[in-house]
Amino acid sequence: MMSSTGSFMARLSDVARDVEVCLEALLSNEARSGEMARPERLISAMRHAALGGGKRLRPFLTIETARLFSREGAGPLRSGSAIELLHCYSLVHDDLPSMDDDDLRRGRPTVHKAFDEATAILAGDALQTLAFEILADPATDPDAVVRAELVFGLARASGLGGMVGGQQLDLAAEGRYGPASLSEADIRRLQMMKTGALLTFSVEAGAILGRADTTAREALRAYGRALGAAFQVADDILDREASAEALGKRTGKDLEKGKATLVDHLGMEGAKRECRHLVEDAQTALEPFGPDAQILREAVRFVAEREV
Ligand code: IPE
Ligand code: IPE
Ligand code: MG
Ligand code: MG
Ligand code: MG
Repeated sequence: MMSSTGSFMARLSDVARDVEVCLEALLSNEARSGEMARPERLISAMRHAALGGGKRLRPFLTIETARLFSREGAGPLRSGSAIELLHCYSLVHDDLPSMDDDDLRRGRPTVHKAFDEATAILAGDALQTLAFEILADPATDPDAVVRAELVFGLARASGLGGMVGGQQLDLAAEGRYGPASLSEADIRRLQMMKTGALLTFSVEAGAILGRADTTAREALRAYGRALGAAFQVADDILDREASAEALGKRTGKDLEKGKATLVDHLGMEGAKRECRHLVEDAQTALEPFGPDAQILREAVRFVAEREV
């Protein structure tokens, strides 16, 4: 059962609404200053990928972490929205025929189904570069050092040693390149890269915007790492236990592809226990922040116990 409180869910949906408005403006059909044109098919595919769906968990983490340091408004909203665009790109490419070959995402046809494969690749590419453009834009933060830190952090989290690297390891874990025998440590690393890195950075971005000191930043990174790990274990549990109707994406895929997950290594009960431990680790990391961090405590419980 979802045990997240009503006030948490209300806050999450408020943030999701703000993010939708911000993304809608960033993905307008008209070319913005400095652009020559926004090709109609490409911007339509980008809008399909990014608007009208998703939990918006990553922007939520950025916005709520920044709020811990009394930073609110356009900076955290734009930064969180940039991370969401990067996430949407990762989903578009993850669903491609050459990757997971999925037809359904967020309850709608995937981008390559609604458009075509080449357009889906290009839409992913353009969502990714737009994410960096937004972070580098002075409208996101007046301090160029802060902007550079955001750009650096997103690049690190999403590239070779982060999400993209994790996706490559994930393909190998399906046995595509020969028999795969992954240890529990291998699976944990794969998951920390493919999903954990971007979630951890979503938290860290809030700390960067909030000018958090080194100690606070390290504590928040520890929180983000535990939350990211819990997120992917929950994703694997849901892939086994939930329905496509509830999730808005196909389920049972990991088993079908013989993909190694923590559910195989620990069993279903073990994976659920692991999720609970990760929630405790995340809560422990938040101790220095006292009651101000209550919403982040609830966020990790939501991640671990979610049904969507
Ligand atoms: C799904 O992410 C993909 C993974 C990283 C496992 P989410 O569960 O956050 O998807 P949306 O954004 O809510 O659709
Ligand atoms: C995808 O992991 C993680 C990304 C980096 C997009 P999955 O392949 O398990 O995500 P779903 O289940 O399709 O959302
Ligand atoms: Mg995948
Ligand atoms: Mg997938
Ligand atoms: Mg999955």
